[in-house]
Amino acid sequence: MKILAIETSCDETSIAVVDALGEAAAPQVAVLGHALYSQVPTHAPYGGVFPMLAKREHARNFAPLLASALAQAAMIEESGSAIAIDEMQVRALLEREPEAAEMLVDFLKTHKRPAIDAIAVTRGPGLEPALWVGIQCAEALARAWQMPLYGINHMEGHIFSAWAGQQEPPQFPLIALLVSGGHTEIVKSNTPGHYTLLGETRDDAAGEAFDKIARVLDLPYPGGPEISRLAREAREEDTPKVFDFPRPMMREANFDFSFSGLKTHVLYAIRKIIEERPITEDEKKDAAREAENAICEVLAAKTRRAVEAYPDTQSIVVAGGVAANNELRERMLALGETLGLPVFFPSRELSTDNAIMIGIVAYVRAKLGDAGRDPETFLKAEGRLALQ
Ligand code: KG4
Ligand code: ZN
Repeated sequence: MKILAIETSCDETSIAVVDALGEAAAPQVAVLGHALYSQVPTHAPYGGVFPMLAKREHARNFAPLLASALAQAAMIEESGSAIAIDEMQVRALLEREPEAAEMLVDFLKTHKRPAIDAIAVTRGPGLEPALWVGIQCAEALARAWQMPLYGINHMEGHIFSAWAGQQEPPQFPLIALLVSGGHTEIVKSNTPGHYTLLGETRDDAAGEAFDKIARVLDLPYPGGPEISRLAREAREEDTPKVFDFPRPMMREANFDFSFSGLKTHVLYAIRKIIEERPITEDEKKDAAREAENAICEVLAAKTRRAVEAYPDTQSIVVAGGVAANNELRERMLALGETLGLPVFFPSRELSTDNAIMIGIVAYVRAKLGDAGRDPETFLKAEGRLALQ
C-alpha cells in the first residue's frame, strides 16, 4: 500500500511517500520519498516555536516539498495539457492559506494523479494553526485525486517510528516511553491501535526541560542537542562535579513526571554563581551533565516501574525527539538488559517529527480495517488530541 503522508504539527514540514506491507503489528515500510523542511533556524531567535510563524512556513513550503517527495518516489509526471480540477474547491479548502492554495492549484493542474492509494495527515496533538495547514492541504489533495484520507495521532506516529528499518519488530504488549518537546508519557499497548496512558508529565515535558535548562545556561534553541553535547564533554573530560540536582518524583509510586521544579532548581543554582562572578565552562558542562543525568534517571526509573507493574510486557519502545539523546539510549538499553527485554528506538532521523511515522500508522490503521475518511468529509485539527 502506497501512502502519501503529511506532518505539520510543530516546526517541521515533512512529506513522505511510503510503501508498506505486512501485518498491523509488524508493518514493514519502504521509504520511497521524504522531503523535510526544518523551521528550527526560523524559530531559534525566539527561543521556542512561534505558532503563527510555523503556520506561514508550512504553507509556503508545502507544494515544493510535495513535488520533491513525489519526485524522489518517481511518481511525478507532468501533464501535457492542463488537468481540469475544481479550483474553486481547492481555494475554498485552503481559504486561510491563499499562498499554499495558489501553489497547490498550479501543481494539481500541471501534474498527473500519482499512483498512491491513500493520504495520511497528522490531526493532533500539536499547534493548531500548524496542524490546520497540513490538514487543509491533505483534504485538497484527497478531493482532487479522490483518495481516502487518514487523520493520524502524532503520538501514535512516534510509537510506530520505532518499526522503521527493524529486522525484528517490537512485540506486543509493549510499554512506550514517549519523550518530545510537548509530551512525556508512558503508554501501554496490548495490540496495535489500542493505547492506555499510564502516566505523563504534570508540567513541563522532558524536551521542554532540556530546552529551558539550555536557556538558563545561555545555550541556543533547541537545547536538547546542546545539553547533550556539553554533557558528553563533561564525561569525556571528567569535569569536576559541583552541582547536585533533584530527581523529581523518582520514588513516587506512580508513572507521572514533573520537570518544572528541576528547571527552577538549575536556574537558582546558576543565578547564585553569576550574581558573584561569571560561570566557568567547566561549571556549565557539569550542569549539563547533571541535568541530563537527572532527566534520564527519572525517565528510566518510571519506565522500569511500568514494566514491573505489567509483567506481560514483551518490549520497550522509546520514541520522540528526546529519544535522539545518547545518554537516554544507553540507560534504556541497560534497563532492557536488567529486565531481560528488548528496547527499540527509531533511527535518530526518525526520532524528531517526520511524515514517515504518520504514513506507517495510516497503514496500520488500514490493516486494522479502517477504510480512511471519505474525501468529501472534513477533518479537524485537535491540539490536545489524546492517544487511545
Ligand atoms: O518530537 P520532537 O521533534 O517535536 C515535538 O513533537 O515536540 O521533539 C523535539 C524535542 C526538543 O525539545 C529537543 O530539545 C529535544 O526533542 N531533543 C533532544 C535531543 N534532540 C532533540 N533532547 C535531548 N537530547 C537530544 N539529543
Ligand atoms: Zn513529535
